[in-house]
Amino acid sequence: MYLRKMKIEDYDNVYSLWMSCVGIGLNNLDDSKDGIEKFLNRNVYHTFDPAFAIERILEEKNILLDEESQNKKIMNIIRNQHYEQYVKLIPMTKELAHKLFVDFKNDISLFDNKEDFKEYQYEKEKVDLYADSYKEKGYILLAIIYKDEVIGEIRFKNITEESAELGIILKNDNYKNRGLGSYSIIKALDYAKTFLKLKKIILSILPSNTKSIHVFEKNGFKETHEDDKFVWFEKIL
Ligand SMILES: CC(C)(COP(=O)(O)OP(=O)(O)OC[C@H]1O[C@@H](n2cnc3c(N)ncnc32)[C@H](O)[C@@H]1OP(=O)(O)O)[C@@H](O)C(=O)NCCC(=O)NCCS
Repeated sequence: MYLRKMKIEDYDNVYSLWMSCVGIGLNNLDDSKDGIEKFLNRNVYHTFDPAFAIERILEEKNILLDEESQNKKIMNIIRNQHYEQYVKLIPMTKELAHKLFVDFKNDISLFDNKEDFKEYQYEKEKVDLYADSYKEKGYILLAIIYKDEVIGEIRFKNITEESAELGIILKNDNYKNRGLGSYSIIKALDYAKTFLKLKKIILSILPSNTKSIHVFEKNGFKETHEDDKFVWFEKIL
């Protein structure tokens, strides 16, 4: 599939498509060829046309992208617009922690030695203990909510006046690779800057966890150093 800005030459095909949709009502003025032409020529900032908006931004920044990268950017914009409506971060509660962990699946990328991987087993008492202990440990936990369902967790630990260490985990594969992690990271950074008034976020990732490294680098994190287990990253807010 390839998305591009509609052109007036597409009108006849688009009109047939509209007419083939049950229940669609067209208006003689705005939906006429003239009306649509005016609409297409209107300033991009008056209406949301992701393909056009992206073209303008790339033009302004003098960036040339191949078709595939351009489509990916457009899809990201559309996806994030959708998540803007449906994803929110709220303080974790015991009830939410149970909803998260009852369907939780371990992710192999979090295991240094893949042979140590074990399926996660939900145990009510352990989740109770976890939910009771994070405040004592000085953590801030946020539940990632998508369409009223808890789908993951954001964790801030080692919080100082200036910085905190960030962690994120999504509930299971049903929610991964759909842009939800990236979107939640953007929201978490916003929360850290706006509500926690932090200046810097740091985090550590196993070198073998190439997907997380990609996701955080994509979101502006820079590698600072490596220790004997992890690669460390930071982002100035
Ligand atoms: C890490 C995590 C939060 C990412 O969230 P997500 O919703 O799955 O990720 P997104 O869909 O936003 O982005 C995935 C990106 O990684 C890329 N990717 C997928 N597999 C990859 C791999 N093996 N290596 C490199 N990049 C990979 C995708 O192409 C996509 O890139 P793009 O946005 O440039 O197209 C989630 O996968 C997770 O919970 N993992 C387990 C816990 C974890 O590793 N936490 C991080 C340590 S704190």
